[in-house]
Parts: sequence; C-alpha cells; structure tokens
Amino acid sequence: MVRRPTSEDRFSFGLWTVGWPGIDPFGAATRPLLDPWEYAGRLAELGAWGITFHDDDVFAFDADEATRDARVARLSAATEAAGLVIEMVTTNTFTHPVFKDGALTSNDRSVRRFALRKVLRAVDLAAAVGATTFVMWGGREGAEYDGSKDLLAAFDRYREGIDTVAGYIRSQGYDLRIALEPKPNEPRGDILLPTVGHALALIAELEHGDIVGLNPETGHEQMANLNYTHALGQALWSGKLFHLDLNGQRGLKYDQDLVFGHGDLMSAFFTVDLIENGFPGHPDGPRYTGPRHFDYKPSRTEHLPGVWESAAACMSTYILLAEKAARYRADPRVTEAMTYAGVLDLAEPTLAPGETATDLLAHDDGFDPAKAAERDFGFVRLHQLAVEHLLG
Ligand code: GCO
Ligand code: MN
Ligand code: MN
Repeated sequence: MVRRPTSEDRFSFGLWTVGWPGIDPFGAATRPLLDPWEYAGRLAELGAWGITFHDDDVFAFDADEATRDARVARLSAATEAAGLVIEMVTTNTFTHPVFKDGALTSNDRSVRRFALRKVLRAVDLAAAVGATTFVMWGGREGAEYDGSKDLLAAFDRYREGIDTVAGYIRSQGYDLRIALEPKPNEPRGDILLPTVGHALALIAELEHGDIVGLNPETGHEQMANLNYTHALGQALWSGKLFHLDLNGQRGLKYDQDLVFGHGDLMSAFFTVDLIENGFPGHPDGPRYTGPRHFDYKPSRTEHLPGVWESAAACMSTYILLAEKAARYRADPRVTEAMTYAGVLDLAEPTLAPGETATDLLAHDDGFDPAKAAERDFGFVRLHQLAVEHLLG
C-alpha cells in the first residue's frame, strides 16, 4: 500500500496536464474540457498541494478585462477553498498563430512587443495569485530552417526579453523568480535553449541572472538522449534549480509526457534519490527545496476516471521511489559499496590546501599508474543494489 500524499509532499500539477482533453496533431479531443476550478478541487482530494497554469488555461486569449478578472477570481476562490496553493504561473506564447515564428525571438518586431506585453501581464497575474515561480518555456522560439534565423540577433532578443521580464519583477518588488524550461524540439524543428546546459549559458549573460534559474523537464532532456538526473545535478551545483517538470519519456521520440516513472524507471529512481537525499558525498550540499511539480499528459485513451488515476499515479510512484531511495541510502551494504567505489572520495579537492599547479609539477608523489590501474571500482555491484532496492 502506498501512503496517501499530503501537503507536506508539495506535489503540484499544471492545469493543462489533467486538463488536456486529448487533442493531438492527428486527432480530436477524447475527453470533455472542464472549467479550471473543477480540476483544482479534484487534485486537492487526491492529496496534491498546489497547481500551476498558463494565462490562457484560465481565460481565453482574447478575453476582455472583466472576464479575465472574473475567471481568475473564481479559480483563486476554488483553490483557496480546496486548500491548494498556486505556486507557479506561466504564459502561453505558443498556441495562437501569431506566435508561429516565436514570441520573444520572432522575426517580426511587432510580435515580439506583443509577446513581451503578454508575458509581463502574466507576471502581474502570477504576483497577484501569490505564485513564487514564473516559468518561461519558449516552445516556439526556434526554427525549422537554418537560413530563417539570424542566430546572433535571436540570442540578443532572447536575452533582452528575459532581462526585461526579470527587471520588471525586480522593479515591482514581486517575490517571484523566473525558471527557464529547456526543450530540444517540438513544436519547432529546433528550439533555442535545447538543454539545461544551453539555458545555464544564457543565464550567465543576463543582467538580472540572479533571479533567473531553471525548470528542467524529465522528458525534455531524455528527448535529446541526455541524463535528466545529471541535468538536475548541474542545475543544483549552479544554484539554479528553481523548479521541476517531472514526467515520463521512453527514449528519442516525440514529447510523450507520460506519468512520472512510466518512462525510464531506473532514471526516475536516481532523480528522486537526488531530490530527496541530495548528493551522496555532501550532507550539507545544495538541495532542491521547491515543489514536486508534474507536467505530464493523461493518455488520450483514458476517460475522466483515468485522468485522476494517472495524476494519483504520478504522486504514488514518486512516494514509492522516495521510500526506496531512503532505504537505499540507509543500507549499510550501499555505504560499503559506495566507499569501495570511491564515490565519497570525489569530494576531496584534488590539490592540497594552498597547493598550486607549479607545486604539483615540482614533486611527484610516487604515483604508480600501473598499480592505480589495477583498482576495481565495483560500480556494477553498487548499481545492482539500487536495482534490488527498486524492485524489492
Ligand atoms: C511542453 C512543455 C510545456 C511547458 C508549459 C509551462 O513540452 O509542452 O513542457 O508543457 O512546461 O508550457 O511553461
Ligand atoms: Mn513537455
Ligand atoms: Mn514542461
């Protein structure tokens, strides 16, 4: 029996996840579309702690001011009544045809100005509903044809856009941080900021980079055949892991957005292990303290009961993996295997305190490469212990 999630777990869901009616490029909706406040109540019943949304998940793209305010007020009231938090807000800069060549990096300046205005209004909305993270996923920022983008200008405009939003957050005194969400492709043939590493490099060029971090998604790294846990590790190391999109992906194909754990389960185990237990050699090292946020899609084969089952499955799988990861870390055989493998030795700096490169060159410490090469690391035994904890 899996224990029921509680608000202490800080599980949250995008309204667009459970709210996806199953429309894909090949087929029509397979489920009815409910109002946003109806999803909030159901998620709370399942044990979720929070919700997140795009501006357009709550009101139509062209909604007038009064409709916009009324719908936001209705959702806020429903989330409050359900005891849920609105932890993140984001902007839809991809559905409307105006964004077909991107938003902040569209070749059309009038579109860029419109997009920036839409994002800034979503920032005001985020602050008004008490969100603390503002995600920016540039799904349409990119190209299909290499000749169609002046890449230098595209990066300049991306930086300008993000800095304008971050500067606005700062000038308004909002308690909000921006989290960029990388993705390699889909809907564009190639999206700018395809991986966590690319996004980190752009953040380093920002004027207001201190309030800009990352929202890495499991499937987005795995679509590029990259290791999601490594991406989280580097984001944490850089102090930039502001938010997460957890889901499932099976290899190099379209963005599957499966239930968390329904893709690469072994990788999900180590993802949860890192989130819950931190770096093995660093009990006081950087830790992720944000929400456990799911960005998945209930398969379009499922009707409404299946939507709720799949949301519950994301949380159950996370809880199970967290329990298993805790047992893995507490197992003396694992400590022994980690010690044998040298996992904990990597924390020791390579140079002695005060030692320089010249000092290192000046005296050889009697190192025998042939002898060192004889060393066995036992990584396979360590990994098998993880497998046994996962299956056990
Ligand atoms: C996707 C993305 C989106 C974003 C969302 C929030 O592949 O469609 O993951 O779901 O996470 O737009 O910015
Ligand atoms: Mn996705
Ligand atoms: Mn996402």
